[in-house]
Amino acid sequence: MSQELDRVVVKSVIYVSGEHDPRQPVPRPPDQGKRYMMGHDPRLPRMPERPTLFDFFRYRFGPSAHLLQSARLALKSGAPEKIVLACLLHDIGINGFIRSDHGYWSAQLVEPYVDEEVSWAIRYHQALRFFADDSVGYRYPEMYIKLFGPDYRPEPYIEAAYREAREHPWYMTSRLITVNDLYSFDPNVRVELEEFTDIVGRNFKQPKEGLGFDGSPVAHMWRTMIFPTKYL
Ligand SMILES: [Fe+2]
Repeated sequence: MSQELDRVVVKSVIYVSGEHDPRQPVPRPPDQGKRYMMGHDPRLPRMPERPTLFDFFRYRFGPSAHLLQSARLALKSGAPEKIVLACLLHDIGINGFIRSDHGYWSAQLVEPYVDEEVSWAIRYHQALRFFADDSVGYRYPEMYIKLFGPDYRPEPYIEAAYREAREHPWYMTSRLITVNDLYSFDPNVRVELEEFTDIVGRNFKQPKEGLGFDGSPVAHMWRTMIFPTKYL
């Protein structure tokens, strides 16, 4: 497909690191005098000039059923809007950006636009997912045993983050993300993004210039999702 493009796309180091040793140069096909990708990638749906959070859900994020179901579960349980929003956004790192340390990326992406407690909770769900809490009936996920094996232990920095979170006044906000996360994988339940229009409207400070163009400390991260193949 990339051969049909009239621009050459060079993948970022992190896209290929692993399959490829990042210290080695990536073999490139001869460019045959073509120009390099410096803007909109024609293989992707074009985003509006001033994209909203929902535009990213529609045009850049992978299937979001897990996030939507998780947010609906929180809503049904009578959780405050802050927690519903945190559930809706907690895994957007996985859905649209970078999987490794996804809780930290997800939190950072939304930090300038949400209440501090929301981004804090999203950041720490990364660690809390690995630790049980009987007081709310949260157990170590069966799925993790399947995915990572029975002997897997989280890295020391995750354990440290867990201990830090336990002592924090917002611990339960983050814990509730993991509680609502646990049961959110029903392929038969369909939840529409629009159900959360009002909650997002009240709790997510959508920049008028659009995400990516508001000059915030994370604007470049949203722009990278808009133009993921830009050469520079
Ligand atoms: Fe997560």
